Amino acid sequence: MNICVVGSGYVGLVTATCFAEMGHSVIGVDVDAAKVDRLSKGESPLYEPGLSELLHRNIKAGRLSFTTDLPLAVSRSLFVFVAVGTPMGADGSADLKSVLSVARSVALTMSGYRVVVIKSTVPVGTCRLVAEEISGVLDGRKLEVPVPFDVVSNPEFLKEGSAVNDFMRPDRVVVGVSNPEVSEVMRELYAPFLRNGHPVIMMDVLSSELTKYASNSFLAMKISFMNKVAQICDKVGADVMSVRKGMGSDPRIGLPFLYAGVGYGGSCFPKDVQAFVRTGASIGVDMSLLEEVEKINEQQKNWAIQKIVESYPDQTALKVAIWGGAFKPETDDIRDAPSISVISELLARKVLVSLYDPEAMSGLRAVFPSGVEYCENPYDVLKDADILLLLTEWREFRNPDWDQVKSLMKGTLVLDGRNQYEASDLAVHGLSCVGVGRGCFTGQP
Ligand code: UDX
Repeated sequence: MNICVVGSGYVGLVTATCFAEMGHSVIGVDVDAAKVDRLSKGESPLYEPGLSELLHRNIKAGRLSFTTDLPLAVSRSLFVFVAVGTPMGADGSADLKSVLSVARSVALTMSGYRVVVIKSTVPVGTCRLVAEEISGVLDGRKLEVPVPFDVVSNPEFLKEGSAVNDFMRPDRVVVGVSNPEVSEVMRELYAPFLRNGHPVIMMDVLSSELTKYASNSFLAMKISFMNKVAQICDKVGADVMSVRKGMGSDPRIGLPFLYAGVGYGGSCFPKDVQAFVRTGASIGVDMSLLEEVEKINEQQKNWAIQKIVESYPDQTALKVAIWGGAFKPETDDIRDAPSISVISELLARKVLVSLYDPEAMSGLRAVFPSGVEYCENPYDVLKDADILLLLTEWREFRNPDWDQVKSLMKGTLVLDGRNQYEASDLAVHGLSCVGVGRGCFTGQP
């Protein structure tokens, strides 16, 4: 089938590449000519495991190409996937400018039936707006026979760092359609990805749009809930990791997304929770539950600073070595990463900061061009540091050489913002480890 994917950000690029890998003929579109140039040479503008290899293979096979020419791409495609950004607007709601402008361009370009698939994360009701935009423009051109089209909602559930795998082997595909005939085409398109027996869940468009926000807000709520439990654990001397196991083993609760930490970040949760709050507020539904989720997350981003201030009330000449700056492992993404607020606060307090991250350093350099000492490996950051602070749980931080850590550092405090270490293991090496929600925990139950 002929597909074009408008927007070559992380969702659009993964979508385009994975459809090409399944044998479809795919054109990726982006307004950024420099990005299109790089992509056409097979260079991925972002780090995502497995993506570069698939990109190369499919470009070479002639199934995947990139262009800035939206009309050309639309003229050659039955499916027009829209995967442009919906950033947070000034009032917290999703900004639909790009989505609607693509809809308008599609309307002005399409010459025959098209399936317009909205993959961008958009508030409930947007597909209807897109349909209105398309038909409105068509009417404006006074076409004698309006070109038929369908607008389909098809939210993505890709996790950064495993997006290719998530696309190739999804646990479900959600599709919202208003025309039952288009369900079959969408089912056919996704069938090869669902040989694992997982379902395409067909529903109406509004429910599909809502599913995305409800899912992300629920996951954010699980994290904030555990961060709140962790605050209680710290006060009473319980261990949040044990509580997680005890709770999560109930299949109704489940173990994933129950990790306390330094707060959630990334391009989705913070933006989607806020947008969902705005949606509720705009139709008179009280969203204080999710407002609280956000508030807890903001508090949690301050966890490291609190611990530093508790241990070193006077921070003169203090040096903090940071491991990890990406909002999570296996990505170079620092959007809304907890590291940004932690580093800003440390710099404001004139604390010396050194940092190592395997992928995110160029992004961080752009945000903090001065004041942070960037190092090429995890051990270089430690020289004369009073504190080691783990912010992102990259695998390479899992089993460090603690003796070397101890010998390089001036102090002995390890702040484990991702609960990767056992205090008893580090104590053997003369280091004292404080985790999230297990700081006061003193021994085996
Ligand atoms: C998320 C959703 O998982 C995905 O379905 C959606 O399409 C996009 O948003 P992503 O933003 O890539 O994906 O990251 P995710 O793995 O969900 O993690 C989000 C944040 O939550 C990270 O900062 C992570 O460190 C944090 N987190 C996650 C926790 O603090 N605790 C947990 O238990 C899980």
